Amino acid sequence: MEIVNRIPRMQAISRRLRKEGKKIGFVPTMGALHEGHLSLISRARTMSDVVVVSIFVNPIQFGKGEDFDKYPRDLAKDAELVTDRGVDYLFAPNRDEVYPKDYSTYVLVEDLSDKLCGLSRPGHFRGVTTVVMKLLNIVRPNFCFFGQKDGQQAVIIKRMIRDLCVDTEMVVCPIVRDSDGLALSSRNIYLNKEERSAATVLFRALNKGKQLFEEGETEAARIIAAMQQVIEAEPLARIDYVALVDPETLEDVYVLEEDRKVMAAVAVYIGSTRLIDNMIFGEKPTFTYSEEDL
Ligand code: PAF
Repeated sequence: MEIVNRIPRMQAISRRLRKEGKKIGFVPTMGALHEGHLSLISRARTMSDVVVVSIFVNPIQFGKGEDFDKYPRDLAKDAELVTDRGVDYLFAPNRDEVYPKDYSTYVLVEDLSDKLCGLSRPGHFRGVTTVVMKLLNIVRPNFCFFGQKDGQQAVIIKRMIRDLCVDTEMVVCPIVRDSDGLALSSRNIYLNKEERSAATVLFRALNKGKQLFEEGETEAARIIAAMQQVIEAEPLARIDYVALVDPETLEDVYVLEEDRKVMAAVAVYIGSTRLIDNMIFGEKPTFTYSEEDL
C-alpha cells in the first residue's frame, strides 16, 4: 500500500490507472477507522481492481464550537488497519493543499442540505459536498462508497453526483452495529462507560418506531412521539431531532403507507456527544453487525 500525500501525485496515479483500464473504487473517510469503514473497503474490494481510501479531517464541514480540534487523528494506526484489507492507496492530503489561502469555491446541494442535521449544523453539508466533489475530481473513481449510517449525507451526495453529472457510481453500504445495536461511529470514542451504554437509546428508539410501523400504525406523529418517549426516558440523552422522512427527498412524511419506504432518522446528544442513526422502514434490515462481535 502506498500512502499518497500530494494531490498531483494522486491525480497522476489515477490517470495511469484509468489509462490501464483499471476500475477504481474510492472510500472517502476522515480517519479514526472502524469496522464500518472496513465494510466499505471490503465492498470496494469486490467491485474494483484498485482501492483508494482517503483520510482527511475536513475543516469546512465543522461548525464553530464543534469537535474539529479534538476529532481523533492517528494516520499510522489507520494505515496499519487498512494495510491487510486490500487497500492500494491511502490518500491523506494536507489542509493547505486542499484549501489554499485564497480558496473560494464551494458546492452546495440546495434544500436537502438545510434539513435534519442541516438545521443544527448550518454549513455542514456545504463543507461535505465541497470536499467530496474535490476528492472525486482528484481520484476520479469508477465507484465511490458511503455508509447508510450518515443517511442524509448519502442522499445529498447522490443528488450532487446526479446534478453535476459526475462520472462515478455511488454505492451506499449498510450500517454496521455493535452487538447491542449502537451504530459504529468515530465519535463513539468520546463516550464514557455510562454514556456508551446510554447511547443504545438511538437504536432502541428506532426499533420502537419500526415495531409500531410493522403493527400497522400509520400516523407519523404517533410513531415519532413513541420514539421520543424512549429517548426521553434515558437521563443522559437529549434529543436534537426525531423525524420520519422520505428517503430520497428528505421531506417529512405524515402518513405512512404499506408500500412506501420511510427513513426514520434521529440525532441525539449523549452527554456532549451528538450521535445520529437511522433505519428504513418498509425494507429488509439495512444494517449488519460488526464482524468483531460475531
Ligand atoms: O462521512 C465522512 O466521514 C465525511 O463526511 C466525508 C464523506 C469523508 C467528507 O469529509
